[in-house]
Amino acid sequence: MYEIIINSPNVQKTEKLGKILSKILKKNDLIALQGELGSGKTTLARSIIWSSMDTKKSSMPIPSPTFNLVQLYDCEKIIIGHADLYRINNSEEIEALNLEEIIDNGVLIVEWAEKLSPIKESNILRIQFINTNNGLDINILNVSGWSDRIIAISKYF
Ligand SMILES: Nc1ncnc2c1ncn2[C@@H]1O[C@H](COP(=O)(O)OP(=O)(O)OP(=O)(O)O)[C@@H](O)[C@H]1O
Ligand SMILES: [Mg+2]
Repeated sequence: MYEIIINSPNVQKTEKLGKILSKILKKNDLIALQGELGSGKTTLARSIIWSSMDTKKSSMPIPSPTFNLVQLYDCEKIIIGHADLYRINNSEEIEALNLEEIIDNGVLIVEWAEKLSPIKESNILRIQFINTNNGLDINILNVSGWSDRIIAISKYF
């Protein structure tokens, strides 16, 4: 199985997905978030990061990286980078963020990932937020290296 769609009627459902993802993340993972403004990308990224932290740090603020572009979090078992490419205009600006180095050392979560050119040697999970007549659909697609873990995710829903 390569793709699953989860309907998310509320923030808690999106956060449940974040908690599940935090349990199965591995070094060299790229979580590529796509979807229009205000569709839930930061909400999911925050819940992945909070759920990956030990309890002492799990109340720290996780700002949206819209302005500082990339933010690093030293979580209990892994380093997580959280990037937002909304304000990025060209590939030189993306290169300056050194995102591949973050993937080499941990996990990278990217908002507005459609602006990213393909990154080799990473496990890529694409998560698309789509507003429908029935509320928010979260479409989860294995691009590379996630096929077993997508099956694991589907068992929780
Ligand atoms: N099912 C849901 N999942 C996630 N967020 C939801 C849901 N229902 C309502 N919301 C609300 O929608 C908003 C989503 O905002 P969020 O910052 O996560 O979006 P975003 O995609 O990161 O936006 P941007 O493109 O500006 O970065 C939040 O205020 C959140 O509380
Ligand atoms: Mg955001």
